[in-house]
Amino acid sequence: MISRVGVGMIGFGTVGTGVARILLDNAALIRRRVGVPIELVRIADLDVTRDRGITLPPGMLVNDAKQVLADPNVDIVVELIGGYDFAKRIILEAIAAGKAVVTANKALLALHGEEIFAAAARRGVDIGFEASVGGGIPVIHALKEGLAANAIQSIYGIINGTSNYILSRMTNEGKGFEETLGEAQRAGYAEADPTFDVAGTDSAHKLAILANLAFGTPINFKDLYTEGVTHITEHDITYAREFGYQIKLLGIAKLVEGEVEARVHPTMLPADSPLAKIEGVYNAIQLVGDAVGDVVLVGRGAGDLAAGSAVVSDIIAGARNLLKGGAGRVPPASFQPEARRPLRLRPMEEIRSLYYLRFMVTDRPGVLSQIAGELGRCGISISSMLQKGRREGQTVPIVIKTHMARERDVQAALREINRMAFMSEPATLIRVEGKDE
Ligand code: NDP
Ligand code: HSE
Repeated sequence: MISRVGVGMIGFGTVGTGVARILLDNAALIRRRVGVPIELVRIADLDVTRDRGITLPPGMLVNDAKQVLADPNVDIVVELIGGYDFAKRIILEAIAAGKAVVTANKALLALHGEEIFAAAARRGVDIGFEASVGGGIPVIHALKEGLAANAIQSIYGIINGTSNYILSRMTNEGKGFEETLGEAQRAGYAEADPTFDVAGTDSAHKLAILANLAFGTPINFKDLYTEGVTHITEHDITYAREFGYQIKLLGIAKLVEGEVEARVHPTMLPADSPLAKIEGVYNAIQLVGDAVGDVVLVGRGAGDLAAGSAVVSDIIAGARNLLKGGAGRVPPASFQPEARRPLRLRPMEEIRSLYYLRFMVTDRPGVLSQIAGELGRCGISISSMLQKGRREGQTVPIVIKTHMARERDVQAALREINRMAFMSEPATLIRVEGKDE
């Protein structure tokens, strides 16, 4: 008869602090949900002196992760240090010792998820990773359980809180990129290396995890087309608004003719669409299942308590399974391992989209017709055009929106146009979602 479930946590930073706070503040509630107390037994962090605003019993906080792994009272090991080698070692050691594992480490899972999931499945232990995607949004549980009846057809997600925070502040308050990135870092939203957030890497990690679970296929995040928000300017934000769009960093994954299309890039969305309205650190994931249709999940995508909520939900699930002997009931990658099928990842040049193109050109007669002519030669049809001001001989923007076009053709046209003498800088391209009209 199990009378308590012991938790050992490695990493007492932003998320670790959120987890400890929730486990302590909501202990009575969690006990009512689980049936026995969930006890924080041991925490390891390199820094054992920093004041985190939480009072722990003497001796609980140690500076050596091994003490957590070796503690016989720890049933569930929670990895919250981030990074690759050491985090992977901790997780594999805990699994080998037959302990349930919870992690928020999307970077690690996107790279080594197959190996970690296989180890957990072999050992018959739970591995929870709800916090790895969408912060507090329970999207992993939704894919594994709530939507398990469905063939998932597509996923559109704002899955990086930091980028969404930056784009929202730039759009709504006209703030600068660096200033807003600093705010996101101070709020605990950004990764240890914030380039992951703004270059789209973190979104690609998360999209790889979601597509893997949704489509039952291994996905290597390194194969995903990934573009971040660093090149988005206030000009593009303004023009997007004039065309009736908002710019969001999206992860898009869909099944197209038996192949997977998966990509991360800034995207113009019609201003009245559900994802366009998601502001600040909020994330949103729009899933389409063949039976259920559209499902949109919205919530805080980063931060101590949002991520902590997801981690604690995995701890609770693990504890319930330990109590009822149900560990390993749900396969880590949602599909039974032998039933997963490798699907071809469609190369980026084969995708079709609408496009927004911005050309900074020297204002003189004939420029527009040369640009339009090259687009036409590459089979790209223009749906609307905007040219602001007239400044003979000076640099002015020409903004063009296309009808549905193939990426390969658009890139070929831009290569030619970028070579033209009137171009003062390479053209900007932003893909557009919405109706082709
Ligand atoms: P933090 O940097 O705030 O916390 C990590 C903590 O781990 C730090 O206190 C660090 O100590 C400690 N640490 C590093 N190496 C070791 C080690 N070898 N042994 C013990 N402790 C160690 O990161 P976050 O809490 O923000 O992120 C943790 C994980 O959660 C990452 O995988 C991240 O991607 C993920 N995540 C983060 C979210 C967020 O909103 N922040 C949301 C969802 C997931 P020190 O500072 O002294 O180096
Ligand atoms: N850095 C991540 C973000 C944390 O900003 O979304 C949540 O995974």
